[in-house]
Order: sequence, then C-alpha cells, then structure tokens
Amino acid sequence: MNTRKAIIAPSILSADFARLKEEIEAVEAAGADWLHVDVMDGHFVPNITIGPGVVKAMKKYSAKPLDVHLMIADPLKYAPRFVEAGADILTFHVEADINPGYVIREVEMTAGELGRDVKIGLVLNPDTPPSAVGQVIDLIDLVVVMSVYPGFGGQAFMERAVDKVEEILQMRPDMPIEIDGGITPDNVGIAASKGVSIFVAGTAVFGTDDYARSISILRQKAETALGGGMVV
Ligand code: DX5
Ligand code: ZN
Repeated sequence: MNTRKAIIAPSILSADFARLKEEIEAVEAAGADWLHVDVMDGHFVPNITIGPGVVKAMKKYSAKPLDVHLMIADPLKYAPRFVEAGADILTFHVEADINPGYVIREVEMTAGELGRDVKIGLVLNPDTPPSAVGQVIDLIDLVVVMSVYPGFGGQAFMERAVDKVEEILQMRPDMPIEIDGGITPDNVGIAASKGVSIFVAGTAVFGTDDYARSISILRQKAETALGGGMVV
C-alpha cells in the first residue's frame, strides 16, 4: 500500500499560451496539484518566458497553488514582485550570483506585509552539488533538483540528478524534494524511489491529449515507488 502522496505539478511552459485560461482550467480539472510556472529572463538562461503580469493574470483563474520557478539572474530584485503577483511557492537558483539569505528575507518580508503564506525553495542545476544549499537549509521549505539544464521544456531526463537527493535528505530528512525536467511515466518512479515527492511535468502532460490520464499515470507510478509497494 502506498504511504506517501505525490504532488504533480504540470509546467505551463508546454501549454498553449494563446489559451492559457482554458489550459489552466483543464489541467486543474484533470487533477493537477500545483501549477508550475517557468520564469526565464534571457540572462540566467538563454530563453525568455513570462513575468509577474502573467502570474497575476493566472492567479485569477487558478484554484491550485502557483509554483513559480525563477530562472533569473536577479531574484533579489524580482522575487517580491512574484509574491505580490500571487506565487504560493517561490523557488530560485543557488547559481544566481546573490546571497540566498537576502532573497529569503525579502520574500518573507513581502509575504508578511501581504499576510500571505509563501513557501520558499532553492533550485540546484544538474552540475551543482547538494552542499550548495547547506548554509540556508533550515530557512527553506523545499529543494528543487533540476534533471535537465534549465531553459527549455521537452529535454531528456538526466538520471544522475537523482543521486543528490540522498545527500539533501541526510542534511534534512523531512525536506520536500521537487524534481524538474524530462519527467515521464518511465522515469518518475526512479526519482520517487530516492525520496522525491513533487514532480514537474511539462511535455508529459501538455504534450498529450488526455491530461487526466497522463497525470493519473504519473501519480500512480510515483506513489507506487514512494510507498515501495503496489498501489491498492
Ligand atoms: C526547464 C523548466 C522545466 C520544464 C519542464 O527549464 O524549468 O520546468 O518546463 O518541461 P518538461 O517536463 O517538458 O521537461
Ligand atoms: Zn521549472
């Protein structure tokens, strides 16, 4: 019997942006737990996507938590704007050239002023060691492990990324771990078996024509591996 729940977070990067409201409603009706929002600035990664204005617009139509992934060079400046726009979970990269403690403080201050509960996470690129989150591990709510180099959806899953999960859990055994990049029904169990419980999936949901079925397969495979047994 499965003992732990998986959180499935479809990435709207792979949605039809011209029909974003319908896509949000469809994927939420299909069972999404969170909506993953990929923010890219053309500096930290070689792609440009969306800003706080779009997050604010999404918030009007979304009943699920917005998981905003900042792939930007200056999270200190912009993270508060995404809190104001409606981010419920806000994650930024340790590779950004900024003291993570300062960003965490800014986010907490803005959330406090607005009376909002915002979870904060740090993201690790594939080549970044887990020790990079060590100094602030007690100040954050989750760690995101990238299983592709950030910048684009639809890339192949890098299995070696899951190796760092164990080390993170040694530092803090209760730390929720999210994995992002190339997740499919074939590899979701590999990540879950290491202790990942939050799964971003762009192509594996929005690239299919039955979102409910795709989410349900990911969930079932993840929860089977998380519980270490059969889902009954
Ligand atoms: C990559 C993004 C991912 C991406 C996931 O830079 O952070 O969230 O959208 O898309 P798939 O699941 O297609 O790899
Ligand atoms: Zn992402």
